[in-house]
Amino acid sequence: MKPRAVLAAFALVAASQAQAYDEARARQDWVLNCMGCHTADGSGIPGKVPALRESLGHFVSLPDGRRFVMSVPGASNSALSDAELANVLNWLLATMNEHSRPTSFKPYTAEEIAAHRRPALTDVARTRMKLVKELQENGVNAVPEHY
Ligand code: HEC
Repeated sequence: MKPRAVLAAFALVAASQAQAYDEARARQDWVLNCMGCHTADGSGIPGKVPALRESLGHFVSLPDGRRFVMSVPGASNSALSDAELANVLNWLLATMNEHSRPTSFKPYTAEEIAAHRRPALTDVARTRMKLVKELQENGVNAVPEHY
């Protein structure tokens, strides 16, 4: 590849990442709205709060999983606007889930969040177990059945 083409490729990657999320904003919204339960680095609390590291990337590979992530009560009922929730989720997927996130992942948009975050899931455990089983059928065993 010619240097000019390499530069153009970098610019494209940078542009697409820049569009996906605003990092400063995401960190702030994470700290104020999610971190209190999920802990600073997203490892969660054993037996109580699931980790959000390298699991969301697997969930979003399934259509129902993509919906699950935005409609669990902590996300669905948060004070975040649709655009803010999309931003935090895209940041979580790009940072704490960079290895599990499918290469085909399309960032959440405010429109998608508005259309699907509500109603908040009432049967989280059952919905989650179905997704974990579906992942296992696809050969993915990285998401624990119990946290
Ligand atoms: C009050 C504590 C609390 C807050 C605040 C909270 N969550 Fe959660 N979250 C939980 C618990 C507990 C679960 C497990 C499912 C359930 O019981 O709702 C969970 C589950 C999840 C899951 C599903 C993960 C899995 O493996 O099942 C996602 C995604 C998630 N939360 C994202 C968020 C995001 C994003 C925010 C901030 C906007 C947030 N949560 C705020 C407590 C919280």
